Amino acid sequence: MSFEKPEQFSELTANIARDNVLKFPKNFLWGAATSAYQVEGNNSNSDWWEWEKQGKADNESGIACDYWRLYKKDHDLLQELGASVFRSSIEWSRIEPEEGVFSAEAIRHYREIFEDLKKRNMKTQITLWWWTSPIWFQKKYGFHKHASVSIFCRYVKKITEELGNLIDIFTVFNEPMVPLGQGFLGGVFPPGYKNPLKFLRAVNNIAKIYKESYKIIHKIRPEAQVGITYLYNWYESEGFGFFIKLINKISQWFRIDLLGNKIKGSQDYIGVDYYRLGKIKFDWKNIRMDSRNQTYLGFTIEEDKDNPMKWITYPKGIYSVLKEASAKFKLPIYITENGRPTEAGLEDENRVKFIKDHLFFVHKAISEGVEIRGYNVWSLMDNLEWLYGYKPKFGLIEVDYKTLERKPRKSFYEYAKICKSNGLEIDE
Ligand code: BGC
Repeated sequence: MSFEKPEQFSELTANIARDNVLKFPKNFLWGAATSAYQVEGNNSNSDWWEWEKQGKADNESGIACDYWRLYKKDHDLLQELGASVFRSSIEWSRIEPEEGVFSAEAIRHYREIFEDLKKRNMKTQITLWWWTSPIWFQKKYGFHKHASVSIFCRYVKKITEELGNLIDIFTVFNEPMVPLGQGFLGGVFPPGYKNPLKFLRAVNNIAKIYKESYKIIHKIRPEAQVGITYLYNWYESEGFGFFIKLINKISQWFRIDLLGNKIKGSQDYIGVDYYRLGKIKFDWKNIRMDSRNQTYLGFTIEEDKDNPMKWITYPKGIYSVLKEASAKFKLPIYITENGRPTEAGLEDENRVKFIKDHLFFVHKAISEGVEIRGYNVWSLMDNLEWLYGYKPKFGLIEVDYKTLERKPRKSFYEYAKICKSNGLEIDE
């Protein structure tokens, strides 16, 4: 299918070889991502399950995509996609449903899942904490308590001993600043606090846990790659000149540097999750705190009404982010998530364009020397979008939540061509 060049194309063509296929580096990892809670179903020992039961999210997850039972079907599709990596996670509340009690059955099941991926010659990029904790942990402790450090590290050690030989790339935490902000300041994620002091304690503990986990994993599996992902969107300031620029800088520091600075020297790579342009503006009529709608005492983010998540699509932003992250951290980068939601799944054409436009700029960054080792679409399949339930559809594959049938969308086949050819075809 023909691919329209991104709007910002012309100003950048100068450095790109005049060839209509943009080739990616040898051994570049192509993949798609999901997370345990969002696809597995029936995670009833998880704090998010309780949160849903209390009516604090738009849908209860229920059986979700039933990946827990149907994983082989999804792996068949991953293989058909031509994926060389699969990014997913382990649900802590399945592994340790009661304090200090590890479930041999859950460990065995994850082993089967990872072995199945390995049999298909795929690399595994596995996250150990993707926003959900066991209910007992949240009730008795929480990341703001110092005890969380030894408790979480015990889980990390167990996973590395039991499953570490099947994990190529460890991601200890997925975008930790998101659930920390939403759970300790915004009050809209568990544990539901609006408490700056608890927030700061939790950030410090997460940093301690991360650094300790880095050592634990490397001690057991010296060859593993260990890191975290950052929600790394591109922010640009508008209006009120210096003041808005300052707010922008502070928000950037909050999202990336606050934790990033604390864990410097303990990361083998940087995981970049990029979705959109953030345009901060000030609105006198909105002087309130509403973190679900991203409104912080009058500061809000401009919205695109045509996007189910209201996110502004901005492909060039991924290029700016990649350049900035590589200069800041001086580490190899995995693009661990990039994707676009559609509402009924009908505007899948937009997803195709989104992926290709972004890959154009990823290639541009690579051609200028940024070490990018892989790219994952969010998401392999439609799944539970946290507070917003099942409405936003991010999948290359449509999931019928009644029959659990999987139907690859056109974007699946378009992305498959890219994965299999290790290249992006463009029209001159
Ligand atoms: C998260 C996913 C989420 C996606 C879309 C990412 O920031 O890691 O869990 O579904 O964004 O909102």
